[in-house]
Parts: sequence; structure tokens; C-alpha cells
Amino acid sequence: MSNRQQQLLLEARELTVRFGGLTAVDAVSATLHAGEIVGIIGPNGAGKTTFFNAISGVVMPTSGTLLVENGIDLTRRGPHLYAAHGIARTFQTPRVMADMTLEDNVRFGMQFAGRHREPISGLGSTGEILDMLGLGGLARNVAADITPSQQRLLEIGMALGTRPRVLLLDEVAAGLTEAEVDAMARRIRRLRDEHGLTVVWIEHAVATLLKYVERVLVLHQGRKIADGTPAEVVRNAEVVEAYLGDEMEATA
Ligand SMILES: Nc1ncnc2c1ncn2[C@@H]1O[C@H](COP(=O)(O)OP(=O)(O)OP(=O)(O)O)[C@@H](O)[C@H]1O
Ligand SMILES: [Mg+2]
Repeated sequence: MSNRQQQLLLEARELTVRFGGLTAVDAVSATLHAGEIVGIIGPNGAGKTTFFNAISGVVMPTSGTLLVENGIDLTRRGPHLYAAHGIARTFQTPRVMADMTLEDNVRFGMQFAGRHREPISGLGSTGEILDMLGLGGLARNVAADITPSQQRLLEIGMALGTRPRVLLLDEVAAGLTEAEVDAMARRIRRLRDEHGLTVVWIEHAVATLLKYVERVLVLHQGRKIADGTPAEVVRNAEVVEAYLGDEMEATA
């Protein structure tokens, strides 16, 4: 690992999120370093989205600590501050602004946090962001007129507009055709390889995900039950028992 890759960009310490009597995220500790591409897998209701919500300021953790770059403590702070410190995320249900042009959707991301941040190499303008996502020709269309899979790409564009260092992607390949899933995976990989982003990617298409990430966190009933390379995780008996057994059969 180079020094650049070792820089700590996000650290969750014993993060817990409870909704009434339900513990959605249960004392999860995890670190993210610059330049990593990490997957998160686990059964429905495992706490994946809630974990993202907690590490982007969208839900307040019940307990635990969240540190971002330079050791800054953002525990129980709001989404704007996470964005200002380079954490951006997409939502499982795309939240694009239907009446606005694609260009203006990306510009919204820029106004939310991006104007205070250094541009990402090769992704400094709305035009560069839309081109990278294959949406350049649609820049002046309104978001309501593009396909659902293009809306998923646009949501990534809005997140990129905030000029993040860490990009959190929540099931951006859900509902896409097999060819579209592969195209999406290659784009996500390029965000890391060519633009230097740190990427965390939740997806149920485990076989695809494992081909493109270098590390995987496995959540089960709110707990982190594994954290390792794809090769390590697929050999982990608890992971196979909790999730992969069924999932691998379903995708075989
Ligand atoms: N705002 C909320 N209020 C109450 N319960 C919630 C809330 N958000 C999530 N939950 C519950 O927390 C648990 C974890 O949900 P979460 O959405 O994080 O799972 P997930 O791993 O993302 O699942 P999926 O793969 O289906 O997207 C579930 O039992 C869910 O019903
Ligand atoms: Mg989810």
C-alpha cells in the first residue's frame, strides 16, 4: 500500500443505530482508507443502508463514534457537514429532481457542498461528470425524461457534484439488465482507478460485486460478521451460512 492509500478517510467505532427496540446497526467498527474500493453485502434488513445513513449524517447513531479525514469527529452532526468533509452517497430509491435538467441536478450537488471543495481530477465540471457517466448528450433534458437506469447514473452524478473523496453507493445496479450491471461496475471501478475516489458499494448482485471490489464487509442482523478480501469472505463459514449460500445459488 502507498502512503496515499493509507490515509484514513472514515472511521466508525462501535457504531450502533437503534429504532425503538430494533438494533439496525450493532456496534460496527470499520475503517476506510483513501483509494479503497470496498463492497458491503448482507441479507435484506441486515443494516447496510442504515450503516450508510449513519456514516453520511442522515440518521443519528444511538452510540459510537464517527471520524472523518484528519480525525475530525462528526458524530451526531448533519449531512451537510459530512458532504463538506468529502462524504457523498446515493439513495437506494433514486432521489433526482425530475423537473430539472440533468445539468442542473449535478449543479445542485455542487451547490450543496462542492463549491467549497477541491475539484476531482477530470470531474471538475458538470459537463465532465455527465460525460464520464455517459449522460453528456442528455445534459439539457429533464430528469423525468430519462430511463430509470440513467436516473441511477444521474444520482451518482449529483453525488460527484459535491466533489467527494468517499462515494457511498447504495444498490445503484438494482433493476439493471446484466449488461447494464457490468457497465455500471466498470464505471464505478474507473471512479476509483482514474479519478482517485474511495468507493463503498452495497449490492445484492454479489458475484458481480466481488469481481470489482478489493475488500468486503459483511453485515448480518446489524453486526459486521466479516471484513476481508473477496476470496477470504467467500470461504468464511459464517458468511456462507448467513448469506452467501443462498445468494450464490441464486446467481449460479
Ligand atoms: N427509519 C427506520 N425506522 C425503523 N426501522 C428502520 C428504519 N430504517 C431501517 N429500519 C429497519 O432496520 C433494519 C435494517 O434496515 P436496512 O434498510 O438498513 O437494511 P438493508 O441491509 O439495507 O436491507 P436491504 O438489503 O433490504 O436494502 C430493518 O429491520 C429495517 O426494517
Ligand atoms: Mg438497503
